[in-house]
Amino acid sequence: MTTTSLLHVADLHKRYGPGCAACAELTGPSQGRSQCPRCGTVYACVAANFSLQTGEVLGIVGESGSGKSTLLQMVNLSIAADQGQIWYHEPGGSAPVDLLRMDAYAARRFRNDRLGIVHQRPELGLNMHFSVGGNVAEKLLLAEWRHVGRIRGRTSELKLQTELPPERIDDEPYTFSGGMLQRVQIAKALASRPSLLLLDEVTSGLDLSVQARVLDLIRRIQWEEQITMLLVSHDLGVIRQLARRTIVMKNGHIIEAGLTDQIMEDPQHPYTQLLVSSAL
Ligand SMILES: Nc1ncnc2c1ncn2[C@@H]1O[C@H](COP(=O)(O)OP(=O)(O)OP(=O)(O)O)[C@@H](O)[C@H]1O
Ligand SMILES: [Mg+2]
Ligand SMILES: [Zn+2]
Repeated sequence: MTTTSLLHVADLHKRYGPGCAACAELTGPSQGRSQCPRCGTVYACVAANFSLQTGEVLGIVGESGSGKSTLLQMVNLSIAADQGQIWYHEPGGSAPVDLLRMDAYAARRFRNDRLGIVHQRPELGLNMHFSVGGNVAEKLLLAEWRHVGRIRGRTSELKLQTELPPERIDDEPYTFSGGMLQRVQIAKALASRPSLLLLDEVTSGLDLSVQARVLDLIRRIQWEEQITMLLVSHDLGVIRQLARRTIVMKNGHIIEAGLTDQIMEDPQHPYTQLLVSSAL
């Protein structure tokens, strides 16, 4: 791990099911499946390794079910890993710590204060019956902000930054369009000024014009805050616009990693070749 790594994920695993002696042979990219036909165990993430430099945007791309959300949720400390380490090195801080070795209280504190996430399903990330301000305040209270004036001030800043229309601020998210919901999720994710922003399919399911505006917003936030991001998408077009480096997942495994431009120009794995040719 180099001195500027914010995060180093090492040998991270997650499976759903008991496993059997045949699993290893019957699953993985070479078999084209992550579920063992013998025992039904799903290998959602197998031996994931990658580093994330401070200020960098790393893309995670792959087909549906390849394990992208599982990997992101493990980094978010919201799905327990079976095995592995997630080393985190606070910028300017002392030694790296393994986030997976923290006790439950410390993990919750870390998640609320240092991480921000935009969930693939907005209802997982938002309280649909709180106003925009209520959702942002909820995140700040969890991050142990106590001063009401500071919470109000931060909420106003975020509304401006994410370009939420002032006349909708007091409305409840269940009345919002998809693009608006993502703006609220982004405002909430940024609230505590996290050092790592996790974005899961932030533009999926949006109309192209709305998608373009949300991507513009993320690009501007990255430029203004220099915030480190992990960006999950099944859409290589989205990844290409934002991520300098990319990892490609298939059937729970990382099958390719490198500079996004290089992957686009000269994909090595047959699956990546397919992905690139269908994105052109
Ligand atoms: N709680 C669970 N129990 C059993 N299997 C699960 C569970 N959660 C996820 N899986 C399985 O793990 C695999 C990886 O799922 P994951 O949601 O991480 O994929 P993904 O790449 O995010 O897919 P998508 O692009 O559709 O969002 C899938 O086969 C999924 O069905
Ligand atoms: Mg997903
Ligand atoms: Zn098995």
